[in-house]
Amino acid sequence: MSTDALADGFGRVATDLRVSLTDRCNLRCNYCMPAEGLDWLPNAEVLTDDEVIRLVRIGVEQLGIEEVRFTGGEPLLRKGLVDLVRRTKELAPTPEVSLTTNGLGLQRTAHALAEAGLDRVNVSLDTIRPDTFATITLRDRLADVLAGLAAANDAGLAPVKVNAVLLRGVNDDQAPELLQWCLDQGYELRFIEQMPLDAQHDWSRTEMITAEEIFDLLSGFDLTPAEEARGSAPAEKFVVNGGPTTVGVIASVTRPFCGDCDRVRLTADGQVRNCLFAREESDLRTPLRSGASDELIAQRWRLAMATKLPGHGINDPLFLQPTRPMSAIGG
Ligand code: 5AD
Ligand code: SF4
Repeated sequence: MSTDALADGFGRVATDLRVSLTDRCNLRCNYCMPAEGLDWLPNAEVLTDDEVIRLVRIGVEQLGIEEVRFTGGEPLLRKGLVDLVRRTKELAPTPEVSLTTNGLGLQRTAHALAEAGLDRVNVSLDTIRPDTFATITLRDRLADVLAGLAAANDAGLAPVKVNAVLLRGVNDDQAPELLQWCLDQGYELRFIEQMPLDAQHDWSRTEMITAEEIFDLLSGFDLTPAEEARGSAPAEKFVVNGGPTTVGVIASVTRPFCGDCDRVRLTADGQVRNCLFAREESDLRTPLRSGASDELIAQRWRLAMATKLPGHGINDPLFLQPTRPMSAIGG
């Protein structure tokens, strides 16, 4: 069995696999999707549970994948999620397994997920005010998300991480109250700069709240750079008011970290993307469904990584947004 890693031409090696389990979602965050939703992938094109596990197994056994994150769309909409987590934790060498979710339905499944071996969870939450939540997501479901967070914490999926996107004039003034609330709950908050990954192509640089603005908004807190090495983690972490809780800022646009990227993505329909912003994908579903061996699939996957570009190019005047939105790529 070979374990030639997923290396690119710039010395980076992908060990962190993000697997989108569905492009569907039950929220409509306006920085992601239009109100009417999107043309969802036909079911026949979405990988089955067995197909997902086969690709993850090839990644773990042959390509050096050490960490698997299930995303969406909304991964809790995938019926087999608990089983997928269990089967992924049974692979050898055992990968770390995490989940990025909007939290709807997490209240019901957090314990089962933890029992299946889930290591960590990231929940998206941009506000703790019900009216602002409804403005951003077009659904009145804040209470369900908060219950999901609490259940994850109870289930031992701690420290629970919270991802927040700040939108100018919508929730940017709420950054301090969101951080204070997360500190009170013991959740690790990370602010993410809004990226040009919305289906509507409405992103604008001037509307984006930059990392620098985020630090200004949080000036009422004492933030000390955390000592732990950042490595390939996208968040710059700070200890808040002497600790122990930290806050992170993910400055994908204004302080890109592409040089340290260790990620590779698999879409729900079985396409490898070597970058969130890649304009090309490599089809693994066709070989998967036409009897290809593990070795052949692994080789295709390596080739897909070899052409990874050095950076996302958002700051290049010729930048073109990828055709597929975040919900179809996986966060
Ligand atoms: N820019 C930044 N973050 C985004 N997310 C979704 N769309 C965008 C965007 N355009 C966040 C979600 C979730 C994570 C997967 O990415 O809020 O927390
Ligand atoms: Fe759904 Fe996540 Fe997109 Fe919000 S950001 S609409 S929760 S996929």
